[in-house]
Amino acid sequence: MSQVMSSNDLPESTKELLLQAQSTFQEKFSAKATHGAFAPGRVNLIGEHTDYNDGFVFPIAIPLVTIAIGRLNGEDVIRVFTASEDVDKPQFISFPVPGEESKLSPGSPSWANYIKGVIAHYKGAVSGFDMVVSTSVPLGGGLSSSASVEVSTHTLLESLFPTECSQLEKALTCQRAEHTFAGMPCGIMDQFVSAMGCRDHALLIDCQSKESKLVRLDLSGKSILIINCNVKHQLTGSEYPSRRQNCADAAAALGVPSLRSADLQLLRQHQSELDELIYRRARHVISEIRRTEEAVAALEGGDLETFGRLMVDSHNSLRDDFEVSCPELDSLVEIVMSLPEGVYGSRMTGGGFGGCTVTLCDTTAVDTIKQEVTKRYRGRATFIECSAADGARIIQL
Ligand code: ADP
Ligand code: GAL
Repeated sequence: MSQVMSSNDLPESTKELLLQAQSTFQEKFSAKATHGAFAPGRVNLIGEHTDYNDGFVFPIAIPLVTIAIGRLNGEDVIRVFTASEDVDKPQFISFPVPGEESKLSPGSPSWANYIKGVIAHYKGAVSGFDMVVSTSVPLGGGLSSSASVEVSTHTLLESLFPTECSQLEKALTCQRAEHTFAGMPCGIMDQFVSAMGCRDHALLIDCQSKESKLVRLDLSGKSILIINCNVKHQLTGSEYPSRRQNCADAAAALGVPSLRSADLQLLRQHQSELDELIYRRARHVISEIRRTEEAVAALEGGDLETFGRLMVDSHNSLRDDFEVSCPELDSLVEIVMSLPEGVYGSRMTGGGFGGCTVTLCDTTAVDTIKQEVTKRYRGRATFIECSAADGARIIQL
């Protein structure tokens, strides 16, 4: 069962979002919401496209969240309203409570599939309820608004329909919802950290054992700056599954269960048998898993220079070998890394083809970075200076 938090103890920005969601709920359902939950988005510091290769990832939960509030309605129907206008219309949907006779299936509007999927795979028995979701995570910006919707929905269900469920089961259920209802064969990172992130810590997730370790993130005088390039290339939908397939092909050719079990020496030994593209895909994953371990060791030793250098190596590998970056992300990294001082490292974060970069820098460098990017980036960039936040909670309203 998820931890419970009083609404009074929420961070100010989450409190505000909750108030808005409550007033929307009153307006749409002419009643007060009785149950609530929130789940954060995430930014990955290093370890990209490694989760579905049984590797390591190193994300933090961010202070941008999705709020889900609801109440039992005593009917055989589930009604959901999303306050987000950046979705396909309508923003309201209702459907019968699923049962043996009436199973839920994905459909239109597509945004509702993330929520339906979680309800369909929820462990406990569900009856009729009304629900509002409201978010401060930018949609489709690579900060996992989708995982935060799934995890907040699951957390709300735990509050409405209590059942025994571990945090790992919860993350796996939400991942399953994304696979089967949203059609996105994602790894486990986003749902895992949205459920289990912790304030002032990054989370080292071993995606093979599904164990994790909290690593203290002492940011005194340092900042994590997310820069959204505000572009999303339509490639993501088709390219992600194709990268997964490339990795599976590479593992099969190397005779290992997943690329986690390979090293660069084994890869080189098989180079002549491998297609050049498959070779580069595997080189990214194998080196990125190693970089993530090294980066965590560097952070634990207080060596931010090494951590930052590994972030840049990660970006270059994603750009050249895995080919999931794009000119906008490359440009942001290049501008930030060209500053003479105060920047440790910068890289694209998330699935790629748009979305955000993440930069580790001195807090004193933040203003200069913003000015330089605003001056030199050809599009419209937005900035989020963030700390590591807590994972999902049930909110006591
Ligand atoms: P992200 O990196 O933000 O997760 P995705 O493209 O994977 O990007 O997921 C974004 C999709 O998730 C949206 O297009 C929408 O369908 C769904 N979604 C995210 N947040 C919300 C929300 N608050 N309400 C409804 N749907 C949402
Ligand atoms: C995300 C996906 C994650 C992870 C990431 C790349 O979009 O949801 O599971 O694979 O891409 O590291």
